Amino acid sequence: MTEEIIKENDLIYLILDDRRKWLVKVESGGEFHTHKGIIKFDDLIGKSFGSVIFSRPYETQGYKFYIFKPLPSDYVTYMSRKTQIIYPEDAGLILIYTGIGPGSKVVEAGCGSGALTCILGNYVRPEGHIFSYDIREKSLKRAQRNVINANLQDFVSIQFGDILNDDLGHTNVDSVVLDMPQPWKAVEKIKSYLKLSGTFVSFSPAIEQVKKTTFALQENGFYEINTYELSKRKFQVKENATHPEVRMIGHTGYMTFARKIQDVRNPYREKKPKRDEFVELNGMPLRG
Ligand SMILES: C[S@@+](CC[C@H](N)C(=O)[O-])C[C@H]1O[C@@H](n2cnc3c(N)ncnc32)[C@H](O)[C@@H]1O
Repeated sequence: MTEEIIKENDLIYLILDDRRKWLVKVESGGEFHTHKGIIKFDDLIGKSFGSVIFSRPYETQGYKFYIFKPLPSDYVTYMSRKTQIIYPEDAGLILIYTGIGPGSKVVEAGCGSGALTCILGNYVRPEGHIFSYDIREKSLKRAQRNVINANLQDFVSIQFGDILNDDLGHTNVDSVVLDMPQPWKAVEKIKSYLKLSGTFVSFSPAIEQVKKTTFALQENGFYEINTYELSKRKFQVKENATHPEVRMIGHTGYMTFARKIQDVRNPYREKKPKRDEFVELNGMPLRG
């Protein structure tokens, strides 16, 4: 693959050092101010992702900054947020276990800051779409801004909508993704949005939410209901001091997955066949 060139309106992942990293949108004529000098966007446009740039004024600052093309994990970690956002490892599991990918049609609630929305939007391109809802105007505005910054507005719609009480009018969607306080109350309604074999996931920080959601899924005839929690350990690698980092996030959340299945009773196994319904072939009983 050829090198990718930075253009106006691209989102870049700008790194000064391990502690100072930003997601920045490149605007012609614009500047990004840091306490280690100024990055002029016109100095960046036309360079390759993976280049370095020095902060201005060169004489008094001149610090080296690294420019990467943002990864989905960078969207999550460094985007503007107010609500608790999803962690990259959890988003990875959600993608794998829901099968969300190119062409998927997905309903999401709530969008919060839009971190998970942006990751999902990134993966459903070029034919799929994320219909993301929230009931808080502030969340909707922030998520919309993050989606535009990530250039995903063609693949993501951020809209006001209450997943518990509104009829959002979807049918045959591939997946429903919930990250909200009372997901179990949404199960009956979202079942009508999903296609057969479609996938459901709910991200919840507390086990009480998981139990209520699992029971609601069982009552509504969902199948393949499973809950997982991931724990990630980052390692410090140093000469004679290589070990897991001392401070880590101990808990992110639980993810409950399920699939929609056709709701049909089994006419063959409703009652046990009586003895005389069997015929015998060479001493082996066969059902008549
Ligand atoms: C923890 S945040 C979601 C964070 C999001 N996954 C992210 O990565 O940024 C939960 C959101 O659910 C929204 N919410 C709560 N009840 C809702 C409902 N009935 N319908 C839609 N959204 C709802 C809240 O307003 C809040 O923004």
